[in-house]
Amino acid sequence: MNILVTGGLGFIGSHTVVELIENSHTVVIVDNLINSKIEVLSHLETLVKQSIPFYQIDLTDEEALTQVFEENKFDGIIHFAGLKSVGESVEKPIEYYLNNLVSTMVVIKLAQEFSVGKFVFSSSATVYGDQDSPLRETLDLKETTSPYGETKTMGERILKDIAKINPKLAISILRYFNPVGAHPSGLIGENPNGIPNNLMPYITKVAKGDLKQLDIFGDDYDTIDGTGVRDYIHVVDLAKGHVAALELVESGVHTYNLGSGKGTSVLEIIIIFQKVNSVKIPYKIVRRRSGDIATCFADVTKVNDELGWKTTLTIEDMCRDMWNFEMKFDNSTRVL
Ligand code: WQD
Repeated sequence: MNILVTGGLGFIGSHTVVELIENSHTVVIVDNLINSKIEVLSHLETLVKQSIPFYQIDLTDEEALTQVFEENKFDGIIHFAGLKSVGESVEKPIEYYLNNLVSTMVVIKLAQEFSVGKFVFSSSATVYGDQDSPLRETLDLKETTSPYGETKTMGERILKDIAKINPKLAISILRYFNPVGAHPSGLIGENPNGIPNNLMPYITKVAKGDLKQLDIFGDDYDTIDGTGVRDYIHVVDLAKGHVAALELVESGVHTYNLGSGKGTSVLEIIIIFQKVNSVKIPYKIVRRRSGDIATCFADVTKVNDELGWKTTLTIEDMCRDMWNFEMKFDNSTRVL
């Protein structure tokens, strides 16, 4: 199938492009480079040994995106593009609602006008709000802790309304838990601009000496060791989950958790990262981060049963691949 990948130069998008091409699909990437770098395109082409059509376009620009649809016949769309910082969204709510919602509406509008048959939407476990794990797709959605999370909940609602009037359109809503790691080649990975918000990229910078120490946000939660527990998923496993949903969902709207189904604490991550990479991670316990919950991990029964997809890569693989990516391109000179 010929697939439009929006945000295809981003962290999850780029890894999904590799898996799509390795599964004999063709890909067209649209990305506005607001949170990604053009150098990722050349690394992708090195990995897949072929050129990949790329358009630098803002998805809220309907006229420009229409031209892309006129120049290409798409069988499916995987829509990753969007602003995704929880903290930033609290400070800039309008920017997040405008960008994330308008871009989703423009993409789905054109998908209908050009009779695209399959649509995969990048959602997030954040839509569950503060509910008890394991989290199941049938749970009612609760208010999230950020405008970012609300744009994911609203995006899901828009797609469910579209599905009602367009039953032939196959819509997959994929709720990610905590994506981490990097492609084993070390050519693509996660390289957030500035100081990372998320745990794993932060730990990687501490290990490298770019940052002095890790602040652990609270060790007084009701968890195995008092620190936060999350469901970490290797980005390559996550990418494969997108290919499975794209290929197997035939009609209607289907929602799936993409996680490992297991929880790992912050201290457990630190111990594994140190062991796998023979590095030291200095840390300090500080007070909780507002908006954090104690525990969050997925019930993955539905995706296992319906798509035959499950994670295969371990926390050790995530830590090793993350470190390999970090070391491959010395960040001080890395242009990614
Ligand atoms: C993980 C754990 C922190 C940093 C976020 C978004 C979510 C999704 C994934 C997009 C928690 C602890 C972290 C640090 C720490 N993104 N931590 N020190 O908050 O589970 O999820 O990213 O969809 O929407 O909310 O991920 O990596 O920030 O935190 O102690 O410097 O690590 O308290 O327990 P989170 P995270």
